[in-house]
Amino acid sequence: MHRPRRLRRSPALRNLARETHLSVHDFVLPLFVSEKVQQRRPIASMPGVFQLSAKEVADEARAAQDLGLQAILLFGIPEQKDEQASGAYAEDGIVQKALRAIKSKCPDLVTITDVCLCEYMSHGHCGVTRIDGDHFHVLNDETVELLVKTALSHAAAGADIVAPSDMMDGRVGAIREALDERGFDQTSIMSYAAKFASAFYGPFREAAESPPQFGDRRSYQMDFANANEALREVALDVDEGADIVMVKPALPYMDILWRVRERFRKPTAVYHVSGEYAMVKSAVEKGFLNERDAVIEIMTALKRAGADIIVTYWARELARWLRE
Ligand code: PBG
Repeated sequence: MHRPRRLRRSPALRNLARETHLSVHDFVLPLFVSEKVQQRRPIASMPGVFQLSAKEVADEARAAQDLGLQAILLFGIPEQKDEQASGAYAEDGIVQKALRAIKSKCPDLVTITDVCLCEYMSHGHCGVTRIDGDHFHVLNDETVELLVKTALSHAAAGADIVAPSDMMDGRVGAIREALDERGFDQTSIMSYAAKFASAFYGPFREAAESPPQFGDRRSYQMDFANANEALREVALDVDEGADIVMVKPALPYMDILWRVRERFRKPTAVYHVSGEYAMVKSAVEKGFLNERDAVIEIMTALKRAGADIIVTYWARELARWLRE
């Protein structure tokens, strides 16, 4: 008679039979750097997450590295917004400054930058918009031009990986070509390849001060009802030269994650997003969930489902927990 329970009898037997192991190297820590703060400012909907000044972000990056983390993902909040998102590609923009500060403190830390315009646009959309009466559209090709400028300026300031999160068509190919032309052939692209229009980005928009001032993002982010379309989106980004493909959000999209990993066999990332973080955090604050147990279970499940890289606001805590 088969007795599967035999291997569950003791901690040592369970360790021996375990299929999925978390490592500190799996995680990427998102950091928010703001031109408007001198001192860390808490984000109400994301307990434990802060907006930081450029100096603080370099210290935080250093502390992350000391914990054993190897990579951070940087988001910027500019002082001024405009209709051309000029802060996104300014040589002394906030992300560019932060990158230089981080690289001078920890040259070996992998720096990934979010390449998007929403934080820098006065209207909060991810691209250049045209308004026709009651409608607006985001102009794809005009937006791609600005994304290319942004990615180039990040690479010049020391980004190891640029991560376009806007969902415009053709941006991965355009960024790849421009990087190669300017001698940044060693800069990688992590593309938010299957990014769904999701209710779970709500808290992030408070953190990044980027809620759209009108309309929503459904004309450029994906319909959460579609899986085949997600595979087509990923295929395009792979063809255009993405080195890493990402699925976002995480838990409600594990079927997509699994299929992307199985089909493309590329390094695959998943973004466990702000709303997913806030859900667990609020339950923990009420005493309904044990934080450590819940988070370890979520992260193990994401890795089991195919994630090679997990972007999570718990990266620091995970580094500590995995050490114990
Ligand atoms: C766009 C961007 C968003 C997130 C990452 N990059 C927000 C959006 O698309 O509205 C969300 C991340 C999160 O919710 O944690 N710059």
